[in-house]
Formats: sequence, structure tokens, C-alpha cells
Amino acid sequence: MVSFTLNGEETSLDADPNMPLLWALREKAGLTGTKFGCGLAQCGACTVHLDGFPVRSCQTFVGDIEGASITTIEGLSGDLAATVQQVWADLDVPQCGYCQSGQIMAAVSLLSETPSPSDSDIDGALEGNLCRCATYHRIRAAIHEASRRLEA
Ligand code: FES
Ligand code: FES
Repeated sequence: MVSFTLNGEETSLDADPNMPLLWALREKAGLTGTKFGCGLAQCGACTVHLDGFPVRSCQTFVGDIEGASITTIEGLSGDLAATVQQVWADLDVPQCGYCQSGQIMAAVSLLSETPSPSDSDIDGALEGNLCRCATYHRIRAAIHEASRRLEA
């Protein structure tokens, strides 16, 4: 049994400590917005926030999260996250969409640390978030637009 905060709620899950957090979220907590891509910490599709920082949930284990605060795409809240999600829709960022919850989690994390990121800040922060549809140019434009809206 592991106890932690999940999207702002105190939560206990009956899961093996060696189970990847990704599977605990999807199979035990029923939160399927976090995606499985590679299982090897190489694609970013499974990105969630652990105590506010982006982590790969496929290589974070249930035994590592006792007492931690986990936020998934379903639990994003606040002005920054709402702005990012609105811009994603306004700019039609997704193509197939599979990678996009991970991209948004990474973008929210970047903008919370760096409110006016440069292209190279964006490329650096999101370089581990792969997109088979190559939406990178729209992701970059959306992050700049979210930054503009948040500063207005
Ligand atoms: S599924 Fe976790 S990084 Fe690819
Ligand atoms: S939108 Fe298809 S993988 Fe990124």
C-alpha cells in the first residue's frame, strides 16, 4: 500500500512497490491521460509532475512516491495550466495527440520555472518529449503564445 497525494487528493493505492507509477496511475487509479510510449524514459509520453517537477512515470516506481505529490494531466489546475491548455487548442497543436499530455506537462513545468522562455530554453526543456507527428514547431509557438498571454 502506498499513500500519496494524487491531483490534490490524499490517495492510497494497493500496488507493488516495484510497479511503475505509470501503470499504477492507469490501471489502479484509472487515470489514462498519461500515456505509455517506450517504457524506457526515452519519449516523455508518460510525464507527470512529482512534487512539481516533471518525471517519467514509466521509470518512477510506486515505492518511490510514498508521501509525494503527483499531478497528472487530469489534475492540472491554475491559471498557467489553463492558459497552456487553451493555447494548445487555439493553435491546434496536437496531430494524433498521443504525446501531447506529456508535452503539456513539460510545457507547464517550463513556464512555471521560466515565464519567458527562449527557443533554446524550450528545446532544452522538451528535448526528451518526442512527437512522431513532428508537431515541434507548433509546440514551440504555443509555449511562446502561452507566455505572452500569461504576461498580458
Ligand atoms: S513511456 Fe515513459 S518516457 Fe516513454
Ligand atoms: S501529436 Fe502524434 S505523436 Fe505527437
